[in-house]
Amino acid sequence: MITQLDNDFSQLNRFLEELKPTQIIILTDENTHEFCLPTLLGNMETEIPFEIIEIDPGEEMKTLETAAQLWDILIEFGTDRGALFINLGGGVITDLGGFVASTYKRGISFINIPTTLLGMCDASIGGKTGIDHQFLKNVIGTFARPEKIFLYPPFLTTLPQEQLRSGFAEMLKHGLIADAQHWAALTSISALTPEALYPLLQTSMMIKQEVVQQDFKEINIRKTLNFGHTIGHAVESLFLQKNEPILHGDAVALGMICETVLSVSAGRLNENDAENIIGNLVRYFGVLSLSLMTDDEILGMMKNDKKNTEGTIKFILLDHLGQASFDHIVSQEKIRYALHYYRELAV
Ligand SMILES: NC(=O)c1ccc[n+]([C@@H]2O[C@H](COP(=O)([O-])OP(=O)(O)OC[C@H]3O[C@@H](n4cnc5c(N)ncnc54)[C@H](O)[C@@H]3O)[C@@H](O)[C@H]2O)c1
Ligand SMILES: [Zn+2]
Repeated sequence: MITQLDNDFSQLNRFLEELKPTQIIILTDENTHEFCLPTLLGNMETEIPFEIIEIDPGEEMKTLETAAQLWDILIEFGTDRGALFINLGGGVITDLGGFVASTYKRGISFINIPTTLLGMCDASIGGKTGIDHQFLKNVIGTFARPEKIFLYPPFLTTLPQEQLRSGFAEMLKHGLIADAQHWAALTSISALTPEALYPLLQTSMMIKQEVVQQDFKEINIRKTLNFGHTIGHAVESLFLQKNEPILHGDAVALGMICETVLSVSAGRLNENDAENIIGNLVRYFGVLSLSLMTDDEILGMMKNDKKNTEGTIKFILLDHLGQASFDHIVSQEKIRYALHYYRELAV
């Protein structure tokens, strides 16, 4: 389902020829319109009529209001069920565009052409679409698979460095939960550049794809993709509440450090692996100051997470580097110890 595009986008053109959609709608944000759309249009050879939609960039756009505007536009365009939606962008565009396409007229076909590292290795794969609602992330959405995912790594060359770092956290996560060799390859690159990442993209995409194929609805093994996200999400949400938003990748790196500590204290992960993991995560992501928040606030936020039930907090833990298991209930004392460990790294 994932196809890497040659420079002439011939695979995309062949796909369009076979699918023969009645119309093509290309969804972009301001940045992908500027940096990625010219390449797409310069290579797309088709007689099929197409329309381009551009929205403002950013998570703030992943709302019901934007979705409603997009449905209005589709009605105005006279879009029918034979149309194809092309999501050209990062996770915001693939989540929002996938949601709009999968609900318009009970669902029209869509493809993802991810343009961020996080989009390529994570958000564009796995068939989760969605929007945020009432300050809750991804609380409304559908499971809907894209017809295809087209990978074009050179899109990464215009991506800001911090966005590259954010996506890199998810790649490291893939190594930790599923493939020690991938982890070793990722941690041996000297600088985080698009060129250094090109040879590693496919492995990360395949790991996500394989996990999702085994468990589409996240009943068991797909949960392991949330490694680092239980604590990471709580801290990310608290920073947001305090008007100090941080990068998702930085939050996930923090979460992976704390959850590595939990894996050791649960007697699952050995100290050597933990040292390797924590040392490399600190090297790439540094240590965030958590002086703005208390442990009680972080614990409170975790209990509210939609993935937890009845006040217990469930964790994904590492059994060894390259293998994770899920649904571990961990005591508050151990969580407090992991947070204390992280706070001490900063001093
Ligand atoms: N569906 C899933 O399984 C899944 C998984 C992980 C994350 N997500 C979602 O993904 C979103 C985050 O994705 P993201 O980090 O890609 O954010 P994003 O889509 O907001 O992109 C980040 C920034 O990069 C810009 N950009 C995109 N491509 C560019 C390019 N090639 N050159 C220059 N600038 C470019 C964007 O305009 C934006 O400003 C969140 O909403 C998250 O909930 C979904
Ligand atoms: Zn993530």
